[in-house]
Amino acid sequence: MDPKDEIKEKIDLQELISEYLPLKPSGSGSFKGLCPFHTEKTPSFNVSPDKQIWHCFGCSEGGDCFSFIQKMEGMTFPEALMHLGKRVGVEVTRFSSKEGNEKQRALEMHEHAETFYRKVLTDGNGSSAARAYVLKRAIPEELAVKFGIGFAPDEWNALAAVLLKRGFSETEIVQAGLGLKKKSGSGIIDRFRNRLMIPLRDRHGKTVGFTGRILPGSSDTGPKYMNSPETVIYRKSRLVFGLEFAKTACRERGTIIVTEGNLDVVASHKAGVENSVASSGTALTEEQLALMKRYTDTIIFAFDSDAAGFKAGKKGMSLARGLGMDVRAAILPEGIKDPDELVQQDPEAWKFLVEHSVPIMQFLIEHVTREKDLTNIDDKRAIAKELLPAIGEIQDVVEREHWLSRTADLLRVNIDILRKSLTPSTAPINHSPLKTPIVQIKEKMSMKEQVIQLMFGSLVQQENRSFLERTKPYLASSELWITLYNLLEAEYDSVSHSAQKSIFSRLREKVQAHPRHEALLPLLDKASLLADETFQDMSQTQVLNQLETLMTTLDRGADQRARADIARQLRQAEAAGDQEEVARLLEQL
Ligand code: UTP
Ligand code: MN
Repeated sequence: MDPKDEIKEKIDLQELISEYLPLKPSGSGSFKGLCPFHTEKTPSFNVSPDKQIWHCFGCSEGGDCFSFIQKMEGMTFPEALMHLGKRVGVEVTRFSSKEGNEKQRALEMHEHAETFYRKVLTDGNGSSAARAYVLKRAIPEELAVKFGIGFAPDEWNALAAVLLKRGFSETEIVQAGLGLKKKSGSGIIDRFRNRLMIPLRDRHGKTVGFTGRILPGSSDTGPKYMNSPETVIYRKSRLVFGLEFAKTACRERGTIIVTEGNLDVVASHKAGVENSVASSGTALTEEQLALMKRYTDTIIFAFDSDAAGFKAGKKGMSLARGLGMDVRAAILPEGIKDPDELVQQDPEAWKFLVEHSVPIMQFLIEHVTREKDLTNIDDKRAIAKELLPAIGEIQDVVEREHWLSRTADLLRVNIDILRKSLTPSTAPINHSPLKTPIVQIKEKMSMKEQVIQLMFGSLVQQENRSFLERTKPYLASSELWITLYNLLEAEYDSVSHSAQKSIFSRLREKVQAHPRHEALLPLLDKASLLADETFQDMSQTQVLNQLETLMTTLDRGADQRARADIARQLRQAEAAGDQEEVARLLEQL
């Protein structure tokens, strides 16, 4: 048996965690306590010794015995493996896998690179222009140190020489994204030359790549920012610049601020706004947002005042809404390009802005009506086209009506006509309180999300083929759930079951090996624990009945909305005397 599995099997997770915090039984064989990873007054930290997992419903941290020790003791995975191996008497030979090793080597190279670039910036002979630029951007020494800002010298292979001397091979340097093969002849050159270097770090603060800014007046014809390519340690869609610092700050302040530029984050720190991260100029992915959501539910977008930033931000806004986050905006004053510029003028002004953020719809309305003529029909149409899809995504009925009526007033259009053009597919999901005796909807989650979690959690508790099929349409609500569904289905169908393992632990292993495990694992754990807790004293039949009721409630909600929508259109068509349309709608109804 793999030492990892053996340790997991032998360890008593409740006993282990009890050494760090008091746990109380919470029924269904699991335990509860106050989360050690965020401050809370009521316990939302759950431990399931059966499933060998822990999860906090407050801050969404979670995992197995190894990740608990890693977090608690600040150990790396191999260290935690050794530590726990000793505890239960399982021998662990030095952890090494090919991929693990490659990652380790790449991380080491990045550490060396960061130190090297830093030193070149502070002491290098040819770095006076770079030092002048740092001064001009008003980055204080303390922040340059904190973010590891450095300079790549204007030489062909200065970094490569350092790394080669330390025993890294040319291939390794190229694969880590730090070097490039020479076009002709043999040997390698540095990828980054004559650029101000900003380390890209993951949320644990490990440097996994760099972004290099061109110096003003340089003869370099490349892009303003040159970024590391994707490597074994760097995946663009998963990295959130600034999260290493923001994760603590946003738990305290309850919000996370998304700026566009990495240097906007550095500037924010100067103003004491440490709960800020950067989207790095592209649309945020669901993975990045899910990572942020672990720390807070309120996201504040600070778009640059140019159109490009807003365009990239729209997708992220809509994804964040889909994840049930409260989406807001910090509006920069006229004539200010980005947060960095504002901080250089007045740090307090930036602080004030993020503390006085506005609902995202207010921002959108202000943004799309800027420089538009509200009496011009083309302008009105353009405005409606921007606003309506966003309004359609709002899940709260009252809020949706509010913005719809604001828009109707603005455009001087009848509100019913506007409502009609909200497409049913983006229609919000039902939020009416559920009248089932047992299942209590947690406030922070949408009802749909909660039903999905319960459904998935019970599918993992009990193998039930027909129910799996039945739930498919509901789980198709997001890419992450589809991925989990497919993995679960494959596990249902796999013939080579090792008989002792539960479907949960088999699935969990598969998820752990999945490239998107960072986003998938918490979902799986949360769903399982929620189902355990909710259905603790019920028989299998009772559970299925409960779920059927929940699904019907969801469907009925969707149905009612669709009907109401058609009825509205019908009234419109009747008023307009469009008989054909009336007939069509009646049939549909
Ligand atoms: P901006 O051009 O708005 O960056 O691009 P900025 O931070 O304000 O740049 P400064 O203040 O002139 O230094 C926003 C982000 O888009 C990415 C970078 O991550 C940048 O921070 N970007 C931009 C690139 O990756 N490549 C580029 O060529 C330009
Ligand atoms: Mn800028």
